[in-house]
Amino acid sequence: MSVRSPLINVMVQAAYKAGRNLIHDFGEVQHLQVSLKGPGDFVTAADKRTEKILRQELHKARPNYGFLCEESGEQIGENPDVRWIIDPLDGTTNFLHSIPHFAISIGLEKEGFMIAGVIYDPVKDELFWAEKGRGAYVNDRRMRVSSRKKLDISLIATGIPFGTHGNADEFSDHVKKIAPQVAGIRRMGAASLDLAYVAAGRYEGFWETHLYPWDVAAGMLMIVEAGGKITQCDGQPYKLGDYSILASNMGLHQPLVEMFA
Ligand code: IPD
Ligand code: CA
Ligand code: CA
Repeated sequence: MSVRSPLINVMVQAAYKAGRNLIHDFGEVQHLQVSLKGPGDFVTAADKRTEKILRQELHKARPNYGFLCEESGEQIGENPDVRWIIDPLDGTTNFLHSIPHFAISIGLEKEGFMIAGVIYDPVKDELFWAEKGRGAYVNDRRMRVSSRKKLDISLIATGIPFGTHGNADEFSDHVKKIAPQVAGIRRMGAASLDLAYVAAGRYEGFWETHLYPWDVAAGMLMIVEAGGKITQCDGQPYKLGDYSILASNMGLHQPLVEMFA
């Protein structure tokens, strides 16, 4: 069992409130007005409303923290060392197509390090959370990365380039190398949940390129707190904004890095 800190409670309450709103909008998805942000990358009314709710709730609880949000960008807080990094709706394309796989992702960064993360899947009512030094949890169960050590029984998640986003040639080279060696590759469409699922031991690994800080902030802490490893695909240390990300359990990390060599 877990005891949630006041900080995690603030984040969870904000995610629950925003999640109720998303669920309502998901039901109405056909009627939503959508605008085009770029090929394949839609911003929905729900997206913006959800971000507003999250900002309001988090600001109420911690008025001097800053923000880095997908929709509204960066706002330096009175305390410039601490900021929320938020993706209000990760998996927008799924959401728009009525596919029930999307999440709210909230990370808290202090002095350049992630110290707390919450990823909430409101359809499945699964709450993934982690706090630095205190472990990672799904609802109130402790999460641990998978203990599988062989590639041929491993399930690996990824993101596929779309529209002008990403590099399709590079991606297909990676798939050509990895697919024959693993039990399967999944592209579910929400990077935050891909990371949470690695932390929960559902996937053995996850790689993607061209992700933004808000896709990754909460999930990267979860991986570490669940006993996994996160780097760039070439094995170099990962920091927010880097080109590629590779997350896995400890045993498979090096074999996976070698796939990208
Ligand atoms: C997207 C999802 C997707 C990933 C894309 C992201 P959005 O985020 O995380 O899995 O492949 O690169 O942009 O646009 O749904 O918030
Ligand atoms: Ca996202
Ligand atoms: Ca988003």
